[in-house]
Amino acid sequence: MPAEQQSSTVRQILRSLAVFAGELPEFHPQAAPGTPQELFTAWLTEAIAAGVREPHAMTLSTAGVDGTPSARVLLLKDVGVGGWSFAAHAASPKGRELAGTPAAALTFYWPQQARQVRLRGPVAPESPELSAQDFLARPLGSRAEALVGMQSRPLDDPKNILAATEESLARLEREPDLVAAEWTLYTVSPQSVEFWQGDKQRKHTRLAYLRSDDGWDKQLLWP
Ligand SMILES: Cc1cc2nc3c(=O)[nH]c(=O)nc-3n(C[C@H](O)[C@H](O)[C@H](O)COP(=O)(O)O)c2cc1C
Repeated sequence: MPAEQQSSTVRQILRSLAVFAGELPEFHPQAAPGTPQELFTAWLTEAIAAGVREPHAMTLSTAGVDGTPSARVLLLKDVGVGGWSFAAHAASPKGRELAGTPAAALTFYWPQQARQVRLRGPVAPESPELSAQDFLARPLGSRAEALVGMQSRPLDDPKNILAATEESLARLEREPDLVAAEWTLYTVSPQSVEFWQGDKQRKHTRLAYLRSDDGWDKQLLWP
């Protein structure tokens, strides 16, 4: 099919797709709790109850030292007073970007509910003890993979993965408490957290929490 025709077919397919199908929850921002952590936890709980697949998956956006952005999906590890935490290999591209530009944005999307949460702010590594705890709580296969430490490097032959993982598994069998040296738990301490509730009639509701000297200010935003 000629490229032009193919593109118009894709355009037609995209235009025909439904948006916000099914029942959507209500969101009353005037009743929102005092902190974004509380509202996030409530929305996450509702996403789990609604059967959202990988409700703890989020897009982590980072920037290189030249300002070029990169984004990828990761799993959320914790939410607390300090912020939103995820774990990664410090030697991976995301780890290197975070070392050079210690700031990030996280984006969650829960399609069944037409809900998005966005937050951004500085990122800091947690203590080696907390990073080790996170590593040791991972399943054996994930620990073996992290121990290899080759994430995102060019792979010349898929057989190399099997060989390297088997070597890591043998190491973990000998030293079950082994922690990958560069495994790091990072926490984003957001300056702003925005909650977006989609609406079928396009009357979307947006509530931003903005960090203030003594807590959080809440601000509605135009959709
Ligand atoms: C649902 C989902 C969950 C993922 N979870 C992780 C994760 O927890 N840690 C991780 O390093 N990569 C995870 N990945 C893979 C990352 O998106 C990414 O490909 C990888 O971390 C390499 O990123 P980098 O080259 O920017 O460092 C996940 C991907 C998906 C789709």
